[in-house]
Amino acid sequence: MRIVVLTGAGLSAESGLATFRDADGLWEQHRVEDVATPQAFRRDPALVLRFYDGRRAGAATARPNAAHEALARLSRAPGVTLITQNVDSLLDRAGARDVIHMHGRLDSALCAACGHRWAAPTVMPVGTACPDCGRPTARPDIVWFGEMPYHMERIDAALSQADLFAAIGTSGNVYPAAGFVDVAGMTGAETVELNLAATAPGRFDRVIEGPASRTVPEWVASLIG
Ligand code: APR
Repeated sequence: MRIVVLTGAGLSAESGLATFRDADGLWEQHRVEDVATPQAFRRDPALVLRFYDGRRAGAATARPNAAHEALARLSRAPGVTLITQNVDSLLDRAGARDVIHMHGRLDSALCAACGHRWAAPTVMPVGTACPDCGRPTARPDIVWFGEMPYHMERIDAALSQADLFAAIGTSGNVYPAAGFVDVAGMTGAETVELNLAATAPGRFDRVIEGPASRTVPEWVASLIG
């Protein structure tokens, strides 16, 4: 059976990492247009870099929870594609194989000039030099609003062949990820949502309500024992 899993910030909430749109979410504390767009980075790179330095430090001290560990087990089964919108690396640190980071990752740096990637420093000052081309053009390896998510060809191919699609801990607010359930459903996949509560009643064939650290291990056990 070919399974495609999409995860969102709710997967890491019980590891202590803030989501975006819940009551204490990141977008309650910062405006997207001030910290998560290419224009914001051009306008005030120090503010944007400080925002990601803070999130990078938080993600580095967080620990994978039972949901990350269950998905790591699932990712080793044949025919499973594991996609995350999250920029923490908790799935990778839980041992998941071949995680698709469609919105980038905090522990990676990107050179805006030559495209080189390297392990991000804990703190990235304005004008950090690229270790490859030497120009002062380092930026967080994060997909900002208005930029194309990564690995979309691979994701579209997996969705078109999926027998089962699961969306875990995501509010379904941001496209293209929010539309994956429709693509998978149109090509005949069964669709399931795992969340505290249904985000769009009727949109998924099935909804499993509850905290991810309980529902995801149970769901994975029902698939692979
Ligand atoms: N268990 C399961 N689900 C949870 C839990 C939990 N413990 N805690 C919160 N959730 C759910 C919320 O109900 C909500 O539906 O996680 C979801 C979090 O939604 P958002 O904060 O919108 O996060 P996400 O869907 O990942 O955002 C998508 O938006 O801002 C951009 O790039 C950013 O990747 C992000 C994208």
